[in-house]
Amino acid sequence: MTEIARIAIVTGGGDCPGMNAVIRAVAKAARLRGWETIGVTGGFDGLFDPQACHVLDYQDLYGLLTKGGSILGSANSGRFAAKVGGGEVRQLPEGLLASTKEAVERLGLSGLVVIGGDGTMSIALQLDAYGIPVVGVPKTIDNDLGATLQTFGFDSAVAYATDAVDRLQTTAESHRRAIVLEVMGRHAGWIALYSGLAGGADVILIPEIPFTHEHIAEAVRERDRTNRFHTIVVAAEGARLEGSHSTSSLGGGADREERLGGIGQGVAAEIERRTGKETRHVVLGHLQRGGSPTHFDRVLCTALGAKAVEMVAEKEFGRLVIYTGHGMDSVPLAEAVDSLRTVPPDGGLVRAAREMGVSFGDRAP
Ligand code: F6P
Repeated sequence: MTEIARIAIVTGGGDCPGMNAVIRAVAKAARLRGWETIGVTGGFDGLFDPQACHVLDYQDLYGLLTKGGSILGSANSGRFAAKVGGGEVRQLPEGLLASTKEAVERLGLSGLVVIGGDGTMSIALQLDAYGIPVVGVPKTIDNDLGATLQTFGFDSAVAYATDAVDRLQTTAESHRRAIVLEVMGRHAGWIALYSGLAGGADVILIPEIPFTHEHIAEAVRERDRTNRFHTIVVAAEGARLEGSHSTSSLGGGADREERLGGIGQGVAAEIERRTGKETRHVVLGHLQRGGSPTHFDRVLCTALGAKAVEMVAEKEFGRLVIYTGHGMDSVPLAEAVDSLRTVPPDGGLVRAAREMGVSFGDRAP
């Protein structure tokens, strides 16, 4: 497919480990086909700024396989925000779509590789409908995109959160304390569930299974009764009390989604009040998004990037590269947007955890 000479990469949404590994894979595979790859800095807005668009040459790619973050920067708010408020999809104004198309044509792009999560794919879908040749690559530490078995960044975030649980286990045991670790994940409990299971947490709180403070307190008391005097709670930031919403630390706006957080502190205070056990809380925050990708994410990113270039070559636009568990495939972007993958409350992993005596802060079925 020789007529493709120039493509570009845009990264959107929150950054995560592996973004650079995808950038490297796309630019390397494109280079081997004799194409030029433009790296667009600062998200979609960069398409309008000549200073933000530069050719990625061989030197730029050096060391990117292992480097955290995104050398192109990333944005999850502003005029290209397609998910706003409580997660509602926003239609981009006609004028913005038209000028984006002009910018893509001005740059002489035959394909635009868009790396992002649900919000970014909502933008990509609108660009595709406007005739811009787009291929999507799914990323997010939250692992909540229904179309793909796993998003890149998730494994790295879980590895970091698991290390945190391991570290908290020993200090909690030494001091006979309860410690609550709050992890990210938005409205999906995957990071909490995986890191909680991997670290042997006693209580795991996820948005998909509403909890009560009394059930958590009872789990702590039960451990004391059986001479296990420390308790580790892993709480997803989106976890919620029965009958209420997730705790938000900042409301959403017209150009950004609401910010979740704060649940860990409240849970810790209630444990201490109800059981008398000294309790601490830790918010892992953006540490989960930093650092080098795990070997799994490096491999996944490389395969996703290579597949994206293959799709551009085949002019399979308007699609998202996906990981099936056996290899790479693709689905229409429309299928990928708004199909959130959350933890099935009665799924195999939750059941396995319950078999281990893990409490989800609810009345166990
Ligand atoms: O979607 C990824 C994520 O890290 C969520 O887990 C978290 O709620 C959010 O982004 C945090 O966003 P920000 O970097 O804007 O605080």
